[in-house]
Amino acid sequence: MKITWEFLVPRCCISEKPKTSKLVSKQSTFHRISVSDFSNSTISEDLSISLAGSNLHVFSVQELKVITQNFSSSNFLGEGGFGPVHKGFIDDKLRPGLKPQPVAVKFLDLDGTQGHREWLTEVIFLGQLRHPHLVKLIGYCCEEEHRLLVYEYMPRGSLENQLFRRYSASLPWSTRMKIALGAAKGLAFLHEAEKPVIYRDFKASNILLDSDYNAKLSDFGLAKDGPQGDDTHVSTRVMGTQGYAAPEYLMTGHLTAASDVYSFGVVLLELLTGRRSVDKTRPNREQNLADWARPQLKDARKLARVIDPRLEGLYSSEGVQKAAYVAYQCLSHRPKARPDMTTVVKTLETLKDYKDISTMTFVYIAPVLDQDKQSPQRELLNKTNTNTKSSHKKLTPNLPLHNDFHRA
Ligand SMILES: Nc1ncnc2c1ncn2[C@@H]1O[C@H](COP(=O)(O)OP(=O)(O)OP(=O)(O)O)[C@@H](O)[C@H]1O
Ligand SMILES: [Mg+2]
Repeated sequence: MKITWEFLVPRCCISEKPKTSKLVSKQSTFHRISVSDFSNSTISEDLSISLAGSNLHVFSVQELKVITQNFSSSNFLGEGGFGPVHKGFIDDKLRPGLKPQPVAVKFLDLDGTQGHREWLTEVIFLGQLRHPHLVKLIGYCCEEEHRLLVYEYMPRGSLENQLFRRYSASLPWSTRMKIALGAAKGLAFLHEAEKPVIYRDFKASNILLDSDYNAKLSDFGLAKDGPQGDDTHVSTRVMGTQGYAAPEYLMTGHLTAASDVYSFGVVLLELLTGRRSVDKTRPNREQNLADWARPQLKDARKLARVIDPRLEGLYSSEGVQKAAYVAYQCLSHRPKARPDMTTVVKTLETLKDYKDISTMTFVYIAPVLDQDKQSPQRELLNKTNTNTKSSHKKLTPNLPLHNDFHRA
């Protein structure tokens, strides 16, 4: 009998010894258990046993209440379609052997837009996939109707918050490229895995940042195993986020790794332009970022008009052009014309050599010195050099311009 999600989920926390060792033996040969393995599994196999090799902790609601101070508002981090997220702290006082660390606890809102299915998909994928650019799932809770997820805490929150929040210094160009590269590596890892994964919900709010702006992908609730055998795509219900989803996927429901590549192109555009993928406050033709920006990416003069003004010209023009060309390719309406993520990673790696160089002219006016010392007032022009690499002086765009600098 094929077991449905409804069968599986209420049983996921029942501690029973497995009657068959199908899933366990798969674990022991290090093959990733997929969501479909669960629907074929026998009813006695529960989630915690199936994922026994993955080192996930199974928490109780009471324990999670303790670590989040009863989900207090002072620990509130944010809320998406799944439900509220709170900060907490775990250590071996809670459970012997737990590494002391801050965590983020996500609580499934039963009235929300997501449900058991996304929760279980997340536990199955993230419970088994480990990579420096995927957020680490530490554990979960499945008690009566409650479903929670416990992740490593990411101190800088999401890229969406960092890029679009109003009253903060803008992210420098080099940081933006570091984030793009990290996220690209996460996606490449999923696509190149022995059993490839299509992420399906690549967007700025699902890219989390650690204190050094290392990017990690979170939210695997919509992830899918890639096509198997001779299949070229996976057919699914169209899900994802408006403004990020690939046009062919929206039209046909045919999902491929190239759909993720398109979404990556949209995020890269967000990093380049500082604009959201969809912005209803803008004039009609500018509301969809990809549609508006893509035609302008190949022409250097037009490109200058779409680059985020908050960067204040502090970037290498050559670096920007290369990044824009990657975005242009990723956003092709022909999925086959898009690069794969490994190629994207290789190209973005080269951008590390291009530092934040001003593309504008700065005039340095030295303070007038003592007449006695006979030094004339000097002017130093720091002109743009579009071919400039790291040998040039790095300007730190986040710092306010020193009084002695005047933009020409
Ligand atoms: N591991 C984490 N560490 C720190 N903050 C987190 C963590 N996970 C989520 N958050 C914060 O919680 C907020 C809500 O995240 P969540 O993933 O639930 O929703 P979302 O990505 O904003 O929306 P969506 O439901 O469309 O994915 C995010 O803005 C993020 O800042
Ligand atoms: Mg999210």
